Amino acid sequence: MHFVGVTTPGGPSNLSVMVAPVPLPKDGEVLIKVHAAGVNGADLREREGRYPVPAGAPDIMGLEVAGEIIASGKYCSRFKPGDLVCALLIGGGYAEYAIAPEGQCMTIPDGVSVVDAAGLPEVFCTVWTNVMDRCQLRPGETLLVQGGTSGIGYAAIKVAKAFGANVFATARNKVKCDAILRFGADCAINYRAEDFVDIVQTRTNGRGVDVIVDIIGGDYLPKEVSLLAHGGRLMIINLRGGKLAEIDFGHVHSKHLTITGARLRPRSIAEKSEICRSLETHVWPKFTDGVIVPETHAVFSFANAAEAHQLMESSNHIGKILLTP
Ligand SMILES: NC(=O)c1ccc[n+]([C@@H]2O[C@H](COP(=O)([O-])OP(=O)(O)OC[C@H]3O[C@@H](n4cnc5c(N)ncnc54)[C@H](OP(=O)(O)O)[C@@H]3O)[C@@H](O)[C@H]2O)c1
Repeated sequence: MHFVGVTTPGGPSNLSVMVAPVPLPKDGEVLIKVHAAGVNGADLREREGRYPVPAGAPDIMGLEVAGEIIASGKYCSRFKPGDLVCALLIGGGYAEYAIAPEGQCMTIPDGVSVVDAAGLPEVFCTVWTNVMDRCQLRPGETLLVQGGTSGIGYAAIKVAKAFGANVFATARNKVKCDAILRFGADCAINYRAEDFVDIVQTRTNGRGVDVIVDIIGGDYLPKEVSLLAHGGRLMIINLRGGKLAEIDFGHVHSKHLTITGARLRPRSIAEKSEICRSLETHVWPKFTDGVIVPETHAVFSFANAAEAHQLMESSNHIGKILLTP
């Protein structure tokens, strides 16, 4: 099979189409003929050799795919050859054929194309487990999303609005702020021109927000802790701006705050399968109803994977970037 590999760790131009044997499904796994694979922020770090790839993950990049089941290992009972699925992977998605635990395969929501479905598993699983499950965002509560036009940001806004929350989200310019409003957020904040703390405090009459989903960390952390309302929850899913911060823990103490963080990729198959079932139960019907629609920015062939990574590094994209074999 063809796959997108890395000649030597480094820039996007080090991506190249290579050839490897088609993998074989083990017990509890299925083999998927890939129609499309999602590109995620983690892939860029993995290409550079700077990502802590979990033990047992394939050498090939790619955390999500959609396509057709070709074969199943022992103990698989739900899907059969010919079924179309999208799947959350521990790796191996940038290939013509990928292996997934059967539990991490999901039906494709009604009305969503197989190609668009490749961009759903990683961001919707991350958002569901962190924002809705861990942080228990409730109808009527307020969410702040840092990076509202990232794949994660788009999914967070869509899920939060679909479940009745008020949403603030940040982005670097007007085009992206317009996209945030198009996704349904109540307020878009241009973080280069405006102070998100001032805007949120003004718009909430000084109350602050109930949940923040942060990918930046660093000097955002003390501001976010000050911005949380009583009982607020801060979910850290990346620390692009730095791991160290000086925080006034008086806010944590007096406002009963929860500060937490998580990574999806190293979690167990059982945990990830449970998250996938939650998406099928709670989120996929929102696609069927048209409340949530996919946000695919661009689709590149495997041969043009370098362009896909360059686009993600430029941060000129809105939503998801996909690859097709
Ligand atoms: N913990 C987990 O399990 C998990 C799972 C999936 C993803 N993630 C993380 O989530 C993040 C988004 O992933 P993705 O694949 O959706 O990547 P992506 O589309 O490339 O998003 C990166 C985003 O970072 C935003 N950003 C950069 N500097 C910012 C700042 N100072 N303030 C606010 N936003 C800023 C960019 O927004 P602008 O273009 O507007 O600057 C861009 O939207 C990545 O850091 C990824 O590692 C974590």
